[in-house]
Amino acid sequence: MALSKTLRPVILDVDTGIDDAWALVYAAHSPNLELLGVTTVFGNADLETTTRNTLCMLDLLGANTPVYQGADRPLLREWAGPVPRYHGDNGLGNATLPPVSRQAESQHAAQFIREQVRSRAGQITLVTVARLTNLARALLYEPGLAALIDRVVMMGGAAFCAGNVTAVAEANIWGDPEAADIVFRSGVPITMVGLDVTMQARLRREDLNRLDPALPYAKVLQDASEYYIRAYEQDSPGIHGWCPLHDPLAVAVADDPSLVGTETFPVRVETQGQRTDGMTIVDRRDGCAGTGAEVALTLDIERFLSVFRARVGMH
Ligand code: RIB
Ligand code: CA
Repeated sequence: MALSKTLRPVILDVDTGIDDAWALVYAAHSPNLELLGVTTVFGNADLETTTRNTLCMLDLLGANTPVYQGADRPLLREWAGPVPRYHGDNGLGNATLPPVSRQAESQHAAQFIREQVRSRAGQITLVTVARLTNLARALLYEPGLAALIDRVVMMGGAAFCAGNVTAVAEANIWGDPEAADIVFRSGVPITMVGLDVTMQARLRREDLNRLDPALPYAKVLQDASEYYIRAYEQDSPGIHGWCPLHDPLAVAVADDPSLVGTETFPVRVETQGQRTDGMTIVDRRDGCAGTGAEVALTLDIERFLSVFRARVGMH
């Protein structure tokens, strides 16, 4: 008799978003992950749009995974607004989208996270690929929750590299620094998949032609990704013909942690700095290494790309 494999139960928190859309495809097709639900937050676009895009991608994937709407703004600040330059006016690179077949559930994302974590104590991996507002809210309501979460795999931060919104800050942290700081201080086990590694995970223009055209999501993702690649090309003199796969890499690390090499350091988030707001401060002082967050610093690029292609349906 074949032994059944234990799947890793995950909740994916998104602000869909072009790279979030690829992350949804990856997660839905992973044979190692059990996708319990998808929670949405403001970020690349407003909450209504990120939720609609999430439902749209799940429809295209033929997945009936429940979707829970969360925060429409940062914990304490004004929202800085959407990011049409990178994600288009509709959050998916202005690709033509089909109407969605269903609505989000009525329960709030933070409440869904709390209920699921409590009911499967010590088992759930939270993969966050957006502002950390939903998780911070759940932890604020119930600080004991941190001890019940198996791990947070977070796309966010820039440990020893440049930021992408400011010189030192990455978008998911910069977009709600207080929320990110709550998560880092909570004691929850964290794997930080930041720009140090996500800028090495590259989707090339020619890869888009390798996507099986029969897949219902192929056209949307091809058009959206072309938009994303162009935005990177226009803004970054060093980038030609590719865009980073930030969010799919975080899902990939939840799926297979051996894809990245990590070192453990205390991490805090700057919330007061005039020029450093949203910076992830990684404490490398003598004696600090070994406690805190596991920070991804190296990536097995070829192995990641090969699994990515298989999961998303590229030949
Ligand atoms: O910095 C990259 C991150 O910001 C990604 O999660 C992207 O989707 C945006 O939210
Ligand atoms: Ca995102």
